Amino acid sequence: MSENQPETAARQKPVVLTGMQPTGRLHLGNYLGAAHNWKKMQDDFVCYFMIANQHAITVPTVPADLRRNTYSCLAQYMACGLDPAKSALFAQSQVIGHTELAWVLSCLCPLGQLERMTQFKDKAKKQISVGAGLLYYPALMAADILLYNAHVVPVGEDQKQHLEITRDLAEKFNATYSPTFNVPEPFIGEAGARIMSLQTPTAKMSKSDPNQAGTVYIIDSNDAIRKKIMSAVTDSEGSIRRDPENKPGVTNLISIYAAAAGTTPEAVEDAFAGKGYGEFKKAVADAVVALLSPIRDRYEELVSQKDHLDAVLKAGAETAQRTANRTLAKVYRKVGFVS
Ligand code: TYM
Repeated sequence: MSENQPETAARQKPVVLTGMQPTGRLHLGNYLGAAHNWKKMQDDFVCYFMIANQHAITVPTVPADLRRNTYSCLAQYMACGLDPAKSALFAQSQVIGHTELAWVLSCLCPLGQLERMTQFKDKAKKQISVGAGLLYYPALMAADILLYNAHVVPVGEDQKQHLEITRDLAEKFNATYSPTFNVPEPFIGEAGARIMSLQTPTAKMSKSDPNQAGTVYIIDSNDAIRKKIMSAVTDSEGSIRRDPENKPGVTNLISIYAAAAGTTPEAVEDAFAGKGYGEFKKAVADAVVALLSPIRDRYEELVSQKDHLDAVLKAGAETAQRTANRTLAKVYRKVGFVS
């Protein structure tokens, strides 16, 4: 095990836990809002990067797809720069403790708070029959975070409400039993925290967008990326400036360019003042292609190496399990469960 692996470094560095659902290809929002920041945290934090496959079954899933998507998600994590020599990369279901802690936390969680969650309401609307797991989703997410006693949780803006409930549950557990959990802070990057659909820029970029021309995937071909960005919806005003209400399309392209090129939205406005939308879109497409094409190439190399991916998951899960065992034993003792 290298010096930077979670266990060795645990005593010195603050802890990060975060994850994504393995729903297939990651999109530009997942990358700019999340993975891009995760990669940069690996040297300064003890990092646990989880594949949230237990969350994935809160809506109907096909088992073969879930299995394939879990490996694909891992290969995309690694292609984005998440490094198994530095961080624990694992699937949620591989570690015993997530659902166990979720149960304890759900017993402290007011039902009304779960029913008020925006993501629950949005997702429930789309289901013919709503499973109880969808309602309990935030309690499982809180367990993911608290099981590793994370200090920081890097996510996109859409996860803010889930982080608030996690903080509430940490405080409630600490007050009900005795101080046990850190109250984790969300880390929401300035650029890229909310990337919108290229075709409906008032809605966030998402895999389930019925108009797939609005979603750029990190493993899209260069041609597909250029085509989607060049046909992004803008407006008739012709000036490159931010105005989320009246110019959501241009505002979104400014955010994408700023996050992809590692600059600020203000600097983008200055650099493109007086230029046309065609020229600006081409620059956005160039920046996104430059960012994503090495990730796609690396993904293609990794995704067929099933044995290697299995070995990474196994090592990550073993590291995670050791921490999970310690937390769960402490929680069970405090709650009054006999050992
Ligand atoms: P998920 O899989 O929906 O999204 C993964 C990450 O991508 C971010 N994201 C976006 N950021 C900017 N713009 C967008 N359009 C966009 N779409 C998605 C999300 O904010 C997220 O950071 N519930 C989580 C998974 C999870 C988790 C956890 C996260 C399970 N347990 C514990 C953190 C900690 C989810 O569904 O993410």
